[in-house]
Amino acid sequence: MSTQRAQFGTRLGVIATTVGSAVGLGNIWRFPYEAGAHGGGAFLLIYIGFIFLIGVPVICAEFIMGRGTRRNIFGAFRTLHSNRCWAWVGYMGILASILILSFYSVVAGWTIEYLVEAVSGSLDTAGNGAELHNRFDHFVSGWRPVMWTLAFLAVNAVILFRGVRGGIEKASNILMPVLFVILIIFCINSLLLPKAGEGLWFMFHPDFSKVDSGTLIGALGQAFFSLSLGLGTLMTYSSYFSDSTPLVKSAVTTASLDTVVAILAGIIIFPAVFTYGCEPAAGPKLVFEVLPAIFHQMPGGTLWAILFFFLLFLASLTSTISMSEICIAFFCEQTGMSRRNATLLNTGIAMGLGTLCALSFGPMSNFTIAGLTVFNLFDYLSSNILLPLGGMLISIFVGWIVDRRLVRSQLAGTGNLPHLLLRAITFCLRYVAPAGILLVFLSGLNII
Ligand code: TRP
Repeated sequence: MSTQRAQFGTRLGVIATTVGSAVGLGNIWRFPYEAGAHGGGAFLLIYIGFIFLIGVPVICAEFIMGRGTRRNIFGAFRTLHSNRCWAWVGYMGILASILILSFYSVVAGWTIEYLVEAVSGSLDTAGNGAELHNRFDHFVSGWRPVMWTLAFLAVNAVILFRGVRGGIEKASNILMPVLFVILIIFCINSLLLPKAGEGLWFMFHPDFSKVDSGTLIGALGQAFFSLSLGLGTLMTYSSYFSDSTPLVKSAVTTASLDTVVAILAGIIIFPAVFTYGCEPAAGPKLVFEVLPAIFHQMPGGTLWAILFFFLLFLASLTSTISMSEICIAFFCEQTGMSRRNATLLNTGIAMGLGTLCALSFGPMSNFTIAGLTVFNLFDYLSSNILLPLGGMLISIFVGWIVDRRLVRSQLAGTGNLPHLLLRAITFCLRYVAPAGILLVFLSGLNII
């Protein structure tokens, strides 16, 4: 491995790449359906609490390990501690990254289908709840989702092989702000819908009687998923930060922007859910049922639809590239495999598992394990269990095991860090994050 590592040139580059990894289908597809399934307002409040009390400190922990060692997740643990047991956090990250890549590609495949339909003009149909529901059900019960999943993974692989990432990332740095602007326009549009008030009430009025262990696990899993946290993505990115990048500030900015995008998505979706008579707890299909109705009532709806799905497709691609990279780096560095073969292996596994996920809404919808379809099982296992568990171990590692001087010098960087802030972050890493995650797990097992 060369000792001279590339570095991000500008502070904006740092923010654009970390936010680019964080913002994706997690915000626009997963957040609204999780919030919808878990009662809206109360979920949102708990989610925001988890983002800032657990998410931000764990991002700092990943940053400290990444920039402190300038290695990937395996190298970072090995450099900081001789005990090989910690490498298991890395293995867990790889398992989670493959599971996530498999089901994420299915949803990215849905965006391709909707993009193609928007371009061909067939997306533009007036909708009421039942019609929108049937339309999506008809699509997912066939084989087309499998075709799009495989197509998406193939595009992902081509980018990974060719190393044209630079271009994609540069393009997305320009296009993601465009996505942001479009989301704001859609928000205004949704706020003008007849039942906007009901939607906003659902999303922002916390009804704590609806909170149960499912809400807590769902909110924690969503926080980790949306921040790309717990499997070493941000650790790897931060190994390219320059010494003067302020870690705490970058962590807070990333978390805030990511949360803003999720809230915007909620403001777009829930007014429409109530206006068109959809079911907020519809699960993974929620957003795809509601969006066509939104486009239909917008002037120039087809063009908006094309733009929206294209940008969502790109946002998903930048996320899957970062996910695949973890697994590819592992195969290359730990087994000496060529990059090409590692990419083929990663893509092959994801294509196999992704096909099962894609069929979970149709031909394989009756095949369940522990009451969950393959798609839901992969999502639940990775987001709600493996990522928080990885985050818990990373926070324990940085809070208790890593040399305090390294933690302090990394957090302070080339500037000064207020003593109180250092203490607050260390406290969160030592106690709040591990205990919080443990309590959520225990509540899920009905132990407390
Ligand atoms: N955070 C991304 C999203 O919201 C998904 C993602 C990318 C991810 N890389 C990750 C999730 C690593 C978990 C871990 O769409």
